[in-house]
Amino acid sequence: MSSALVTGGSSGIGLAFAHALAARGDDLVLVARDESRLEAAAQQLRARHGVAVETLSADLADQDGIRTVEALVDAHEIGTLVNNAGFAAHTDLLDADWSGQAEALNAMALAVLVLSGAAARQMIGRGTGEIINVASVNALIDADVYSATKRWVISYTEALAGRLAGTGVHATAVLPGWVRTNYHAAAGMRRPHLPGWAWVEPDQVAAEALGAVARGRTQTTPKAVWKAAAWMLRHGPAGLARLVADRVRSGHDRQGAR
Ligand SMILES: NC(=O)c1ccc[n+]([C@@H]2O[C@H](COP(=O)([O-])OP(=O)(O)OC[C@H]3O[C@@H](n4cnc5c(N)ncnc54)[C@H](OP(=O)(O)O)[C@@H]3O)[C@@H](O)[C@H]2O)c1
Repeated sequence: MSSALVTGGSSGIGLAFAHALAARGDDLVLVARDESRLEAAAQQLRARHGVAVETLSADLADQDGIRTVEALVDAHEIGTLVNNAGFAAHTDLLDADWSGQAEALNAMALAVLVLSGAAARQMIGRGTGEIINVASVNALIDADVYSATKRWVISYTEALAGRLAGTGVHATAVLPGWVRTNYHAAAGMRRPHLPGWAWVEPDQVAAEALGAVARGRTQTTPKAVWKAAAWMLRHGPAGLARLVADRVRSGHDRQGAR
């Protein structure tokens, strides 16, 4: 029987994906760095859904870590892959120390490319499979390396979906707005002050993404308010995305985001 592999499956959106996939009966493979949080998530998932859960501690910001997870994909029959692991990478583009930006590209772009390729090769052989890549509405503004990386995720996923057309394997990019997770705290940032209706719950992100990939959609933005925001950023006045990018960038500068 095939399993679902979720990177960043120990917290937030990834954990919500893990619950949604386990609820439909999928066995799970979860990847993240912190072993104790991985094990806590695995225990919760086994107890609630009665599925088998395997965990692997690996750092996807590191190319050796990516190769380790690639080998894990090769060793399993993966029916669903969720490339979700990620973190806020909002430092100044001109920083002389570019190590954090390189880590962001590794974890949120190179890992997506390598793991999607490994999973797709085996899925094609079975004529079925789902690949979900977590991007962001932030990709629709050009603010920093984070938005550039997430824009790459959307473009790559569209290309992958084209490459996979007619194979029975589907690829979908998910563009969430602001989601209540550990994302901001993990980067030492304050959560933005937004009205309650503007926040998206991680469960809604997972549910809408799984629905979209099942319908063969190549992109989805969960929650109506963020669908409207994404539409405005894509089709509204040319200066709008630049204005939002400037506001977001100066907010991150004030917070000294990593
Ligand atoms: N929250 C939002 O507002 C929002 C909006 C749009 C898109 N997103 C995207 O959603 C995805 C999930 O984020 P989240 O909001 O759920 O944040 P989160 O609660 O902080 O979860 C991040 C997950 O990724 C794992 N992770 C982080 N760095 C990793 C690395 N180098 N190697 C392996 N695993 C790593 C974390 O575990 P460890 O720390 O133990 O490794 C954790 O399981 C990210 O790609 C993020 O960019 C978030």
